[in-house]
Amino acid sequence: MKRDIYPPLESEGARKLSNIQREILKIKKEREAVILAHNYVCREIQEVADFTGDSLGLSREAKKTGAKVIAFAGVDFMAETAKILNPEKIVVIPDSNAGCSLEELCEASKLASLKAEHPDALVISYINCGAKVKVLSDIICTSGNALDIVSQISPDREIIFCPDRNLGSWIEEKLNRKMILWNGYCKAHVKYSPNDILELKKEFPNAPAIAHPECPKEVRDVCDCVCSTEKMISFCKTNPSDTFLIATISEMVHRLRKEVPDKTFVSVPSGNQPSQRCDHMLLNTPEKLLECLKNLSPRIELDASTIEAARAPIERMLTMSK
Ligand code: 13P
Repeated sequence: MKRDIYPPLESEGARKLSNIQREILKIKKEREAVILAHNYVCREIQEVADFTGDSLGLSREAKKTGAKVIAFAGVDFMAETAKILNPEKIVVIPDSNAGCSLEELCEASKLASLKAEHPDALVISYINCGAKVKVLSDIICTSGNALDIVSQISPDREIIFCPDRNLGSWIEEKLNRKMILWNGYCKAHVKYSPNDILELKKEFPNAPAIAHPECPKEVRDVCDCVCSTEKMISFCKTNPSDTFLIATISEMVHRLRKEVPDKTFVSVPSGNQPSQRCDHMLLNTPEKLLECLKNLSPRIELDASTIEAARAPIERMLTMSK
């Protein structure tokens, strides 16, 4: 099987901006816009973004931006979070079809029924959910602060954790506490198997394997580090190894190479794929980013009552996470 091996970025010459990247920067200035990009979008967009990061970093940036327009290169729940934190601003997204399997697997009406069965439970929802699920939640978390948030809840308080069962089970293991887990999952991360990691480790015996907590437990168990996309960067910076095996959406490698330019990254293959991609994130193309900045469309529109009700659990997260 072909391997996607990314040598140290410092071994490549400087890259010139393409015409479309220059056009994006020009229109961004005219629109007084900020471009926020998730670590999973393509390299061309990461190169023109004002900020590239994980869901937590992006929520913090969205909260503090002074720009008139936010162009959000990511998926809809991330852009919705930016809108909820900035109801007065225009928030645009390159493609409104960019969603998330976790969001699809968690209908608000079903969560409302589960809440009714556990009226005293606290609902902690992973940010990868729709605005209506956020409205029903007490606190939002991301993969970067989930352990921090849950550890602040009294051990005798019942918690409903939704929608990602894998992130939920990782929190349970790490904090040694049981929660009521929603049965959702990320369609891309569940495709990894332990064998994908073990086979690659034979080729790269000294390379630590790093997985996102959305991976299943059997996969996490054979990895050296499990963490959010942002924490992968600090792990690779401080770990003495010069090569790392990355079990998450392969576009993450662009950010890793930028921040850790002297090291090599190998995407963990799965099944017959040399690396994992996210079909939703791939909808973010430089062409669509340019168009959405030009047309200020597609826009994120949410009604005022949803914005108000969904803001409280997001603000609670930002206050609770260091
Ligand atoms: P992060 O919390 O690292 O941004 O992860 C987001 C995500 O959607 C992972 O698939």
